[in-house]
Amino acid sequence: MDIKTVGVVGAGQMGSGIAHVFALAGYDVLLNDISEDALRKAVDLIDRNIGRQVSRGKVSAEDKDAAMARIRTTTKLPDLGPSDLIIEAATERETVKQAIFEDLLPHIQPHTILTSNTSSISITRLASRTDRPERFMGFHFMNPVPVMQLVELIRGIATDEATYKTLHAVVEKLGKTSASAEDFPAFIVNRILMPMINEAVYTLYEGVGSVKSIDESLKLGANHPMGPLELADFIGLDTCLAIMNVLHDGLADTKYRPCPLLTKYVEAGWLGRKTERGFYDYRGDEPVPTR
Ligand code: CAA
Repeated sequence: MDIKTVGVVGAGQMGSGIAHVFALAGYDVLLNDISEDALRKAVDLIDRNIGRQVSRGKVSAEDKDAAMARIRTTTKLPDLGPSDLIIEAATERETVKQAIFEDLLPHIQPHTILTSNTSSISITRLASRTDRPERFMGFHFMNPVPVMQLVELIRGIATDEATYKTLHAVVEKLGKTSASAEDFPAFIVNRILMPMINEAVYTLYEGVGSVKSIDESLKLGANHPMGPLELADFIGLDTCLAIMNVLHDGLADTKYRPCPLLTKYVEAGWLGRKTERGFYDYRGDEPVPTR
């Protein structure tokens, strides 16, 4: 199936990154959010980030203008109805995602493919509550979307081959690489990455290392581009905790229990970069460790 128009639900850090890469690849994008302000901020961010690619000679100024002209915004979910492909990138809460799909169903075309950018929630379960589990898939982008090469493709139990092939071809058109994952809690990337981050928080909690020594150890000792605590702040501590809970509940294994210190940071509202405080405090010129 030929995809031309793409609806993106949620204009947060993932939704705006997804709109950015689809518009640059030539798709018409309609970005939706309940907040006008979030939509304005997302368009500004996309403009700045593509501008960064122009200044580094990776994108031409004409391609930037053409991409920005392909992005439209709306606060009304039904406006996404005519889209060939819809990518839900809202908050990582199953009730929120389920409500979005329910609200979309009466408005979409028979051929529309529905996808979720969920990082951990069961695709089979989300799909089963729609009228088209065969045309429903997990479509998981990594943060920052314009930079990260991988997209995880997750088939639910009922997803058909045509849908998988269509999304596989879309990922190629974006210039990215797909990895196919089975639909089990947190798929591949987060099944491996989140227990590592959670273990870094345990290492801090037990006093084995400080924020600085833990991050430096992994950066300099394992060549990771960011330390695990810096990365947790970048992803969002609420998202990290939500994924650990999905692993813990879904696999019923105590090795996935979230570290109490991670829970405490989330309870404090210290969610990382987005709230300007997490394992680091970002309110000054330089990030300062909070422990
Ligand atoms: N848009 C466009 N370009 C961007 C960008 C953005 N949002 N952010 C960074 N860039 C570009 C920069 O312009 C720069 O381009 P050049 O190579 O042409 O110079 C390049 O990316 C590197 O950026 P910086 O020089 O600013 O910074 P850096 O070298 O420190 O790299 C980073 C930043 C790419 C984020 C790097 O630190 C990194 O790879 N970190 C790890 C990220 C990671 O692990 N992401 C996965 C998170 S897990 C996930 O997403 C799954 C989930 O479900 C939770």
